Amino acid sequence: MRIRAATDGDLANILAIHRAAFSDEPVADLTAALLCDPSTQPITSLLAWVDDTPVGHILFTAAHLQPETPHQISILAPLAVVPEWQRRGIGRSLITEGLALLALSGVSVVFVLGHPSYYPRFGFMPAGELGFAAPYPLSAKHQTAWMLRQLKGELPQSYVGRVRCAKTLEQPDYWPQSLEGEQLG
Ligand SMILES: CC(C)(COP(=O)(O)OP(=O)(O)OC[C@H]1O[C@@H](n2cnc3c(N)ncnc32)[C@H](O)[C@@H]1OP(=O)(O)O)[C@@H](O)C(=O)NCCC(=O)NCCS
Repeated sequence: MRIRAATDGDLANILAIHRAAFSDEPVADLTAALLCDPSTQPITSLLAWVDDTPVGHILFTAAHLQPETPHQISILAPLAVVPEWQRRGIGRSLITEGLALLALSGVSVVFVLGHPSYYPRFGFMPAGELGFAAPYPLSAKHQTAWMLRQLKGELPQSYVGRVRCAKTLEQPDYWPQSLEGEQLG
């Protein structure tokens, strides 16, 4: 398995991975929209390959804090591995490679709305209790799905504010209180 940066020519492969992993269209549609939204820049988009077969994809897009801080922020969404290649460490490799690249590029903190039993394996911790609210309020049930991973420097101390995403992600539909926990990450 190898991981490389995705290019414009990989769009069909990327969307096929998300359709296969999520078994529905909305995540593929979200991914396509994120990839052509200028407000997501800079992005980190990585594809995992087994021989000539694309098997996994991860996308990180730019975000910022409100109130502003000097920290460079990113958000992880979405991540997918095709079902027949799951549970072989491909998701782990995509996350760790992505976090390493983001750290090199100067990103301080990465946020995710994802499975609370998966992301803590990679150093993610609950973000809400550290003062970093999601772009839209989450129900109590989903508070633990909102997490951050510090990459460098110190987190803003006593921070109370909100993460703002690229235009495509900054839509209430992706952050509803009724979110069933399967939509992002
Ligand atoms: C979640 C996903 C990306 C993990 O990729 P992967 O390559 O299978 O993951 P890894 O091989 O690195 O890790 C496997 C571990 O993750 C766990 N895991 C997989 N999906 C999980 C989930 N939804 N919630 C919690 N843990 C999960 C597995 O139980 C396994 O645990 P184990 O090591 O104790 O057996 C992949 O299962 C997937 O694409 N799922 C469908 C899409 C999705 O839900 N994406 C959002 C990710 S939060």
